[in-house]
Amino acid sequence: MTVTGSTKVLAILGHPIGHSLSPLMQNAALEVLGLPFVFIPFAVSPDDLPTAIAGLKSLGVAGFNVTVPHKKSVVPLLDEIDPSARMIGAVNTVKNDNGRFIGYNTDAPGFLQSLREELSFQPQGASVLIIGAGGAARAALHALAAAGIKSVTVANRAEMRARVFCGNFKDSFPNVDMESSDLSLLANEASLSSFDLLVNTTSVGLDGSAFTHFAPASSLVAYDMVYGVKPTPFVQAIRNAGGSAVNGYGMLAAQGEKAFHIWTGVAPPAGLMKKILMEAVCAA
Ligand code: ATR
Repeated sequence: MTVTGSTKVLAILGHPIGHSLSPLMQNAALEVLGLPFVFIPFAVSPDDLPTAIAGLKSLGVAGFNVTVPHKKSVVPLLDEIDPSARMIGAVNTVKNDNGRFIGYNTDAPGFLQSLREELSFQPQGASVLIIGAGGAARAALHALAAAGIKSVTVANRAEMRARVFCGNFKDSFPNVDMESSDLSLLANEASLSSFDLLVNTTSVGLDGSAFTHFAPASSLVAYDMVYGVKPTPFVQAIRNAGGSAVNGYGMLAAQGEKAFHIWTGVAPPAGLMKKILMEAVCAA
């Protein structure tokens, strides 16, 4: 990749950022297509986010990703928010549109794409269990509800948070039955087997940790947003019981593909970002 005087800049802002695989997969796709962009990581602390955003605007960057812990706090710093990102309350992709910063959420559609591609999951009429009630759960619920699921149960360590969470979405998706629960539901094999899909949106598993009481029935289908070199205990337990479970690499690649399209106006080569991610993981 040759950087010239007319190369446009894309970036990712996070804290920490050193672990991010986005620069690798975005630059690979830019290079294959020969597009005049370069993608750069920036470690930005929460206190510095407003000045960093103002700086990116002064510098005229073409667009950027925001990741943990900035996905919510970036929202009031932008000029316009896409309606679905507004409803989710989080932005992961920003495009510079003639000096105006427009925020999008590509995590939600990336999650749906990954569900279809990796688990052949069709959301219409499905009954889903979402574990967790934070920002990642909001993106999952928005994506699934907009895609036509019939019902969702939100199970969270702090059940009150799950209840508030469902209450916040009820008016937007009146056709979706919503229930809340605590994590004791995970120990109930019969209840678990009534769901067409389980989604873990919590960070449990990131450090190899497991849910305290989890009784996977056979034939469960599950998506774990956590990703790492090894399958999480959640994914492993479901596979051991005979079910299907995948981790979040597909979502990471798919949100990146959608962001790339927003910035450059063209789709990256199909499957390239996922391939780059898997190569990086295997080499780690
Ligand atoms: P994110 O934006 O990544 O979803 P978040 O908004 O901080 O992050 O939400 C984290 C979610 O993971 C919450 O649902 C949290 O449960 P609580 O609301 O009870 O805190 C869940 N979580 C984090 N650590 C957990 C653990 N060790 N066991 C169970 N749930 C956990």
